[in-house]
Amino acid sequence: MNQRLQLNVNGARHTVETDPARPLLWVLRNELDLLGTHYGCGEGMCGACTVLLDGHAVKSCVTTVGEAAGKSIVTIEGLAKGGKLHAVQQAFLDEDAMQCGYCTPGMILTAAALLQEHPHPTREQIVAAMNGNVCRCGTYGRIIKAVERAAGSRT
Ligand code: FES
Ligand code: FES
Repeated sequence: MNQRLQLNVNGARHTVETDPARPLLWVLRNELDLLGTHYGCGEGMCGACTVLLDGHAVKSCVTTVGEAAGKSIVTIEGLAKGGKLHAVQQAFLDEDAMQCGYCTPGMILTAAALLQEHPHPTREQIVAAMNGNVCRCGTYGRIIKAVERAAGSRT
């Protein structure tokens, strides 16, 4: 049954009337037009749909909009601040850490959450944190370099 839900997305408040059991992914894409949150598997296995929920990386295809209501939601469109790219976004550009780019928003948000929690992660911590994000183009080497660069361990 539909409910009126308050969503805080990228610092802006939105009211949506929807079934709270609906995946957050589809509300972001279809109601709020935030198309940077991608659909891959729909089963929590690929990470293409990753967003930040109260600072933690979550898969929005297996997170209901009801769970996300009232929390801070950040999508790739909201990561840059004041016209300046987030350090992870800049590092992905600097390391050319993408090919088709389909996985990239989810990769960047997962890395941003990691660096928020561990500003200077080891390579093992980076690999472990990024393990739930799949890149079908196989750019993993450059993705890891980009996360290391963003963490300041690589210039
Ligand atoms: S689409 Fe959500 S994890 Fe694959
Ligand atoms: S760059 Fe194509 S899926 Fe990762």
